Amino acid sequence: MESDARRKCAERLTAKGAGGLPETSDSDLERSSASAPLRSFDTRYGSVELLSAGDGVEVIRHRIARGGRFGMVPAGGWTAFESVTVLSGRLHCLSEEMAPLVPGDTVSAWPVVRPRIFEADEDTVLFHVASEPVFQTGSEELAALQTLAREVAERDGYTHEHCLRVQNLAAALGGAAGLPPERIRWLMYGALLHDVGKSRVPADLIRKPGPLDTDERAVMRQHPSWGREMVSACHLGQAGPIIEQHHERLDGSGYPYGLHGDEITVEAQIVAIADTFDAITTTRSYHLAESVEAAVAELRRCAGTLFRPDLVELFAALPDLYAPKPIRPRRREGGDEAHPA
Ligand SMILES: [Fe+2]
Ligand SMILES: [Fe+2]
Repeated sequence: MESDARRKCAERLTAKGAGGLPETSDSDLERSSASAPLRSFDTRYGSVELLSAGDGVEVIRHRIARGGRFGMVPAGGWTAFESVTVLSGRLHCLSEEMAPLVPGDTVSAWPVVRPRIFEADEDTVLFHVASEPVFQTGSEELAALQTLAREVAERDGYTHEHCLRVQNLAAALGGAAGLPPERIRWLMYGALLHDVGKSRVPADLIRKPGPLDTDERAVMRQHPSWGREMVSACHLGQAGPIIEQHHERLDGSGYPYGLHGDEITVEAQIVAIADTFDAITTTRSYHLAESVEAAVAELRRCAGTLFRPDLVELFAALPDLYAPKPIRPRRREGGDEAHPA
């Protein structure tokens, strides 16, 4: 049995060394080519191609146009090994300090405990190997929702980095709070897409200068439920309750349902803290960015009323809070009430 396994292994190594798999009728060999991956889909900035898959392992090729992004995000219960090798082009990491990745460079993580987001400085091709399935998480549906979330963030006077920062901070706080890996995975989707429902709010309402009247506020306050509906329509439904509750507050003063305390999922309370922190520390047209210390002081002032005190203290202790922000402030065009804290 063992020698048979070695023979098969040697067979594959030989095929690889010859520059490609030989034509064969052997059923244990599966072949894909540059023109015919097993499966693929286009993204806003390129394409994702599944080259081979078996025993939970996936080998994926990403083609990323200049300015496009690639993320190593936790998947499949968070025990996955992931490795990325750059074949051509160049990427830099947005989410932490790291030398740019150039052809021949490989980055690996096992397990992946927090997302790492890379941006292509030029057209880039990379190989991505994962020990648990991640291809589905890069689906067209998620890509479309991410695009909507980015557009919503920009309409709100942020940049797309707002979504990524809220995602990073929420994942870090979820880890500090002891959430298991699978829940952190859904927390990250909920954080990334927390305001995607605003894409259904009429543009003139989003852009309206000054305060909203009662009817307008009622429309705006539907965005958490609209967001839940949108993710529930695809395979991301488990992020729905997090999105729907991200404006609920500990004392019942939030919306859409006025939930109290433990009626609100921990994940939604985590997103609320991360979102509020990033709102305070980001410059928008009507608001200059305040310091990390001032934002933490504000969260502590609201602990026990709006936010769970233990989560606020865990958040205040996160080293990620003090990482430099890769943001490009944008002018904001109109009013909203996304961040009432
Ligand atoms: Fe919101
Ligand atoms: Fe937000």
